[in-house]
Amino acid sequence: MKTSVAYDYRDMSKMAAKMVADAIRARPNLVLGLATGGTPLGMYKELIRMHIEEGLDFSQVTTFNLDEFCGISPDNKHSYRYYMCQNFFNHVNVKPENIYIPDGKAEDIEEFCREYDRKIEELGPIDLQILGIGRNGHIGFNEPADRLKVDTHVVTLAEETIRDNGSFFDDPLDMPKKAITMGLGAIMKTKKILLLANGRKKATIMASLLKDRHVTTKLPASFLYLHPDATIIMDREAAGEALERKTAG
Ligand code: F6R
Repeated sequence: MKTSVAYDYRDMSKMAAKMVADAIRARPNLVLGLATGGTPLGMYKELIRMHIEEGLDFSQVTTFNLDEFCGISPDNKHSYRYYMCQNFFNHVNVKPENIYIPDGKAEDIEEFCREYDRKIEELGPIDLQILGIGRNGHIGFNEPADRLKVDTHVVTLAEETIRDNGSFFDDPLDMPKKAITMGLGAIMKTKKILLLANGRKKATIMASLLKDRHVTTKLPASFLYLHPDATIIMDREAAGEALERKTAG
């Protein structure tokens, strides 16, 4: 696993966007795995700039999002589909038919999950997967547990995840308690992974991840140690404790 420390959030976002852009330029029909949340917003902004100013072309790119809240319709302003349209898709030329995001309102959610995995199998493998990391070490919404699921599935969100995301809702109590997430199987089958982490609130989990080099289901991001091509880019704040512990040790 490669790690890089960016100067700050802006620098991290630019490094991430450059990695995505280089991958698209090398392979215009890239299959790109995407994340939501606060972390990749700067990367999306930079990719939009590259599209407008440098002609970065997404017309042949296919995207798969990691997750979506259950019980929220795609046009709800709190859905991840809405987030993706507002923050990225509406500003670049990804074709709507090439966008895949789990449907939190699917009638038969189990069947939907099977179909999502079938689609990834059919159109994949995902060439480049962008990941954020939860303060508890989750990737996608694969929360710390005794066992981690391989396939796309419905997950009950951890208390910490609900607390961290509740502030985005007008009433934090409206925050869904369940989500659909890609499982560890699809994530581990991607050709390349880029995990981003920024801010002091991620420093403790990044230190746990980088310090002992253990693989444990209690820290789902630790599975990236088993991936042949995983890179972490974090800003100095997120790297803080990991760097301090390294220096101290
Ligand atoms: C979102 C996702 C999550 C987030 C993680 C960090 O699609 O898969 O794993 O990446 O919860 O969220 P932020 O970036 O808001 O700190």
